[in-house]
Amino acid sequence: MDIHQPLPLLGGLTPEQFMKRYWQKKPLLVRQALPHFQPLLSRPELLALAEQDEVESRLVKKIQGDAGWQVRSGPFQRRQLPALKAPDWTLLVQGVDLHLDAAHQLLQHFRFLPDARLDDLMISFATDGGGVGPHFDSYDVFLLQAHGCREWRIGRQKDLSLRDDTPLKVLAHFEPEETFLLEPGDLLYLPPRYAHDGLARGECMTYSIGFRAPKQGELAQGLLQRLAEQAEQAENDTLYSDPQQTASSTPASVPAGLQAFAAQVTARWLANPQALALALGEWLTEPKPRVWFEAPEQAPEMADLATGVALDRRSKALYDDWHFFINGEGFRAAGKDAKLMRRLADQGHLSAKDLHALSPDALALVLEWCDSGWLKPL
Ligand code: SIN
Ligand code: CO
Repeated sequence: MDIHQPLPLLGGLTPEQFMKRYWQKKPLLVRQALPHFQPLLSRPELLALAEQDEVESRLVKKIQGDAGWQVRSGPFQRRQLPALKAPDWTLLVQGVDLHLDAAHQLLQHFRFLPDARLDDLMISFATDGGGVGPHFDSYDVFLLQAHGCREWRIGRQKDLSLRDDTPLKVLAHFEPEETFLLEPGDLLYLPPRYAHDGLARGECMTYSIGFRAPKQGELAQGLLQRLAEQAEQAENDTLYSDPQQTASSTPASVPAGLQAFAAQVTARWLANPQALALALGEWLTEPKPRVWFEAPEQAPEMADLATGVALDRRSKALYDDWHFFINGEGFRAAGKDAKLMRRLADQGHLSAKDLHALSPDALALVLEWCDSGWLKPL
């Protein structure tokens, strides 16, 4: 993507300008960000997605008289949802990009941001008056109005205290600063912790393009676990030795030499940038818990890839200076193979000519990934 090109999606800003002025800083409202935008799926299609076990969904109902909200987790059969004529309810369907090619395609508009930061496309369907209450999210979000109208009240808040009488995280004292009525094709970007409250004005659908940012704790856990696996597999694993150990009259005390050895080995792994980079890439590309790939009936052969290969919409592929990562697995890559694997991750596909330029080992991996359903013949 040309990051110096003004985009209607960003109200005529270039991605470079948007990142400098708005990203993680302040909201941006863009009217007709996607002119002539057509919803990616109809209401019955969305409701059908929410019936499936592998699709994460929630139903949020406002209780009359500001008494709070009721929340239930899916899947939902059609009869388990309130009547379409009933006001004040919302169905939230998470990860639609994993289930629908068109949703995955929509996310491509946002690839001026690193893939490692992108989370998913959530679709919310609401009847008149529906909404999830005034709240703030920890992550950046682009709210795209896809169908009907939604009124957004937004504001920076001093008081972020939450109501304690309802299962949703709803602000107790929301004070909006601005109100916007979004129509189909309009887009509202909100930075993390910016409070917002979206109210459906008639039946509507809103798409949330959500981002993720690792928390320190979960990141440390993911990396240390993977580093530990690497350490276990290391070939020249050295044993602790203690020829200087003296006779002990306090046998239960941990020897200082063993403490020093422990500190030394951990520090050695943490100080290894390639080992850390490998762990990070594997962690970042780990498929989400409900993701299943569809393996082809027959193992593909080179002849099946005559027009190239593309990443399956569920696949996550990233790279760094040393590695290529796909779906939680990291591979060392250098030279021409690295260049082509990076192309696969950035562009989402490789042509037949690209495939012919791969080394036999890399080509064997490509066939293996096709066999796992991670790549598809074009
Ligand atoms: C919604 O679309 O109903 C909720 C999205 C949000 O507030 O983050
Ligand atoms: Co929100």
